[in-house]
Amino acid sequence: MAFLFNSDAERAKIFAAAFARELPSLPFITDAASVDPETVKYLITWTAPADLARYRNLEILFSIGAGVDQFPLATLPEKVKLVRMVEDGIARMMQEYVTLGVLALHRDLPGYIEQQRAEKWTARPVRQAPDRRVGVLGLGNLGLAVLERLRPFGFPLSGWSRSPRAVEGVACHHGMDQLPEFLAAIDILVCLLPLTSETHGILNADLFKALPQGAGLVHAGRGQQLDAAALIDALDSGHLSGAVLDVTDPEPLPAEHALWRHPRIILTPHIASATQPETAAQTVITNIRRHEAGLDPIGLVDRSRGY
Ligand code: GLV
Repeated sequence: MAFLFNSDAERAKIFAAAFARELPSLPFITDAASVDPETVKYLITWTAPADLARYRNLEILFSIGAGVDQFPLATLPEKVKLVRMVEDGIARMMQEYVTLGVLALHRDLPGYIEQQRAEKWTARPVRQAPDRRVGVLGLGNLGLAVLERLRPFGFPLSGWSRSPRAVEGVACHHGMDQLPEFLAAIDILVCLLPLTSETHGILNADLFKALPQGAGLVHAGRGQQLDAAALIDALDSGHLSGAVLDVTDPEPLPAEHALWRHPRIILTPHIASATQPETAAQTVITNIRRHEAGLDPIGLVDRSRGY
């Protein structure tokens, strides 16, 4: 039985070295054409190959990234376990990006960028961290990692998740019923939700209305969760004060799109976080060992939830 690696050559080299060291008896294949498909037990990839069905003995499909919304959940054979990438490198980069975004909004970087362009040397009003409430939508491993990193700044922290969670020092809310009360008490909203049918379009006009006047948004979830026109309206009306966006729909964002030019938006091209091959290889090796010992892999997708 074999492990098939379907990603770039640079990552392949690092994965191959880790596999040779730790799982020497499991053939590590990077050329799909050279392998008997019946022998492929594990596959790691970003998207499902069109000929996925020929891997009839596949037991685990590993996503090379944190998200799994790009996989056709409905047609994936029930016996194949789908596994998200849960690894420290992704979490560390996401901590950096969200901290960057929260601090940028907290200290009004969009305003200072505008002032710089206008050669204007003026101090803008500043609020202290204990008066800036930060709330995170999504309390999975990334949401929790981000809250941990934000804690030392002294922002009052809250979080919202689909099902109940308890996190020390974080006011936790759950379920659609508690979403309005969560939103009403935050000044900077961070979105780290997975993309599912329930979260598609969740960052819309109603949600923005439920935020206090002057709130900001840091979005590092998925582009399809955001109603871009509603965001622009909320910024233009002054109800929201700024947004830091790493994801758009579609990606790349087309030329001339209003999100490129809005003075209150800082936009990055889906670079918030990326799988780091050294730590990711260790995660996958651990998960193969767990699977062979009859345990569930870490990051196993619950198909009924979609993440
Ligand atoms: C990136 O968006 C990922 O899912 O890893």
